[in-house]
Amino acid sequence: MEIIIENNHSERRLRLDNTPLNCAIEKHGRKRSVHQMIRDRIDEITRSLVVCDETLRRMMASLEAAFNKGLATETASSASVRMLPSYVRSVPNGTEEGDFLALDLGGTNFRVLLIQIHNREAKMTSKIFRVPDHVMKGSGEALFDHIASCMAQFMEEHGLKNTKCLPLGFTFSFPCKQEGLTKARLINWTKGFNASGVENEDVVDLLRRACHRRGDIDIDVVAVLNDTTGTLMACAFKENSCQVGVIVGTGTNACYMEKLTRCGKLETELDPTDGLPDEMCINTEWGAFGDHGEMESLRTEFDVEVDQASINPGRQLFEKMISGMYLGEIVRVVLARLAREGLLFGGDTDAISKKGGFPTKYVSEIESELLEDEERTFSKTFQILEDLGIEGVSQLDCIHVATVCTLVSTRAAHLTAAGIAAILNRMQKPYVTVGVDGSVYRFHPTFPRLLDEKIDQLIDGNLEYQLMLSEDGSGRGAALVAAVATRMKNERSQLAK
Ligand code: BGC
Repeated sequence: MEIIIENNHSERRLRLDNTPLNCAIEKHGRKRSVHQMIRDRIDEITRSLVVCDETLRRMMASLEAAFNKGLATETASSASVRMLPSYVRSVPNGTEEGDFLALDLGGTNFRVLLIQIHNREAKMTSKIFRVPDHVMKGSGEALFDHIASCMAQFMEEHGLKNTKCLPLGFTFSFPCKQEGLTKARLINWTKGFNASGVENEDVVDLLRRACHRRGDIDIDVVAVLNDTTGTLMACAFKENSCQVGVIVGTGTNACYMEKLTRCGKLETELDPTDGLPDEMCINTEWGAFGDHGEMESLRTEFDVEVDQASINPGRQLFEKMISGMYLGEIVRVVLARLAREGLLFGGDTDAISKKGGFPTKYVSEIESELLEDEERTFSKTFQILEDLGIEGVSQLDCIHVATVCTLVSTRAAHLTAAGIAAILNRMQKPYVTVGVDGSVYRFHPTFPRLLDEKIDQLIDGNLEYQLMLSEDGSGRGAALVAAVATRMKNERSQLAK
């Protein structure tokens, strides 16, 4: 039950022969010619969403150039892909032990976790708190007060307030310029956050100050990290060939273990005789690829519209074609265009015109139904469209909506695959495990398979890899980075004795 998207360069049509979609269209018998015309026009309008392998390979070459630019001393400050050092030099070796606190801020939820690592097992207790929209977009002080208040509540509930303060790992999933493992200056907000007075500031310091303002909790931040680093670490704890961490969730990003000899911009900063491994985890911040025009040949009128209406126009352009914050919105913009042309919903555009009205979870639900509902009842899809307020939805409408969802999510999977393949080709390690996490990867029914198949087609023939779902990288991973930092600190103080 697959939709075959063929990349015949001169035509690049969606080929639906022998697919469930086509079978459903066939059922409409004599009306087929009108339907065929509608379908042809829809194909024509959405054709730009299909990306062929040749284009993906060109994009990989341009991404590789952007990686190099981000790492070189002379070009780093003007690079779109920032290639941020994480100061994480080694992955866990399995001997890490102890109790740790972790904080996880990266989307509309904030989590506090208590993680107990013992005998290679990590036991976790956590609590999720919402970050209301007005806090995301209010003052930085109010945001960090909110974080501190959630922490205090968690510590109270777990009897941690009056005990010795536990080492804390802080997953802060936004682009940060790190100046060591415990200092991270926010470069710019992404994913709909816009709290004032945080950009250019050290977020660990802002957190400490918020705790001081309260006066009832004490913290010992031993590491601040990106969620991709956490994902890599959480996977590496189980599978030591893990060298790449990828998130496809609200936002998208990747990190990987890079040779220090290729990080020109770190040359003056690190001591080659420090006895640490000759690699560092680099947070690529690939979501900003395209911000210097690198994706222009791939971006469609729909991408331009989504970007223009966003809180940060012109920024995070790769992310805006891939991640959960935007996939549903791209689908909505395409559907609105089709409705305007009278090709959908009997030309009724009202219900589909509201920005943000088509969340990405609908894309997953509609495509799941396409895979599972052999009778083609489209009951879930009907329900979603009716809930949106669209009147007189037809079965053909459902088919066309499902087609658009498939096109948009397939493109996202293929672009992500090209990103991962570019990293694997760059690393040239014979076997690498790629840890992946995020709501799109977890909940979209075909994303993992499409991603895997396309990476396989795009990587160099001598390389092998596997994708591995990373279990809660941003929570567990934060504790692991804290644990590795604590282990290394203890090892160093032992040596000094
Ligand atoms: C942020 C990254 C983060 C990614 C996934 C992006 O918007 O810039 O730092 O890793 O989202 O959460």
